[in-house]
Amino acid sequence: MMSCKEMIDACLRDCPWGMRDTVSVYAPANIALCKYWGKRDLELNLPVTDSLSISLGALGSHCTMSIGDEDAYFLDGVWVTPEEPFAKRLCSFLDLFRGRDGCHYRVEAVNTVATAAGFASSASGFAAVVMALDQLHGWRLDARTLSIFARMGSGSACRSLWNGFVHWYAGKEEDGSDCYAEPLHSDWKDLRVGLVSVDAGPKSVSSREAMNRTVATSALYGGWPQQVDQDMATLRDAIAARDFQALGLCAEQNAMAMHATMMAARPAVLYWQPATLEILQAVWSMRAEGVPLYFTMDAGPNVKVLFTEDARDQVLLKFPDAQLANPWET
Ligand code: DP6
Repeated sequence: MMSCKEMIDACLRDCPWGMRDTVSVYAPANIALCKYWGKRDLELNLPVTDSLSISLGALGSHCTMSIGDEDAYFLDGVWVTPEEPFAKRLCSFLDLFRGRDGCHYRVEAVNTVATAAGFASSASGFAAVVMALDQLHGWRLDARTLSIFARMGSGSACRSLWNGFVHWYAGKEEDGSDCYAEPLHSDWKDLRVGLVSVDAGPKSVSSREAMNRTVATSALYGGWPQQVDQDMATLRDAIAARDFQALGLCAEQNAMAMHATMMAARPAVLYWQPATLEILQAVWSMRAEGVPLYFTMDAGPNVKVLFTEDARDQVLLKFPDAQLANPWET
């Protein structure tokens, strides 16, 4: 079994190792319409199934990176102490790349996605760091390899290198060389995502822990891969046909199925709060009144609503604090 470090060393073997002073990059956050939920390899972050996401466009992570005498990390302008979980996770990710001379990095990350409303995105963060490393050292790696590197930081990060729809292939190889993401060509310019915040606080159970516990203990997990196969096909067809109803309904049902698997874990994982349920019911009643509006949810209490530009006013009337994203905006 290959480690992340061995895989990265193999990819970088023939690459140059330049040192640019400073680089600045941007990666958008993404929301899965068909979720990544369960790993076949914990070390390499290889998923059990494919997944499909939509970009959040201008909501994501800006990252400025330079070589320094020692590591220093800043998040939204604030220095992050080495003891904080964010710093530890970033540091061990950077350890995979430091090269023979063991160089140090100064990383300044600024999130445009509403971190303070509980939408912190490790996906866009790791994707941005990988893009910055590539430019800083002049590797000029292809997007597929960058996607593989980002995946090692956080699975969903491999889908954060592009705008629009992105398909992440689970692959079959043990070393994960066929486990990467790719953009789907589509020109669905009026599709929108709204972030509706319920709770800004840190989660009691991380998505990583919830997913691993679900795979290990949930009696409902057995049916999940088959559900994903169906949903992936439905979503790809809906995207090709620009069928918003089929897309929205499938995304909503996929999110509900994922939450069902974790509720059946032992101990149960339940992210929903009373306000979460109120939002889901509000979406359903708006839909019953003829507004084409659907939701999806990740491992947390906040809700993401899916709609098209013509429903914008109705969405904002119902959810005035929602942060809106255009998946194709840069
Ligand atoms: C529910 O990508 O955060 O958002 O690979 O362990 O870092 P790790 O997990 P992460 O899990 C995301 C789970 C999800 C679904 C999704 O984004 O597909």
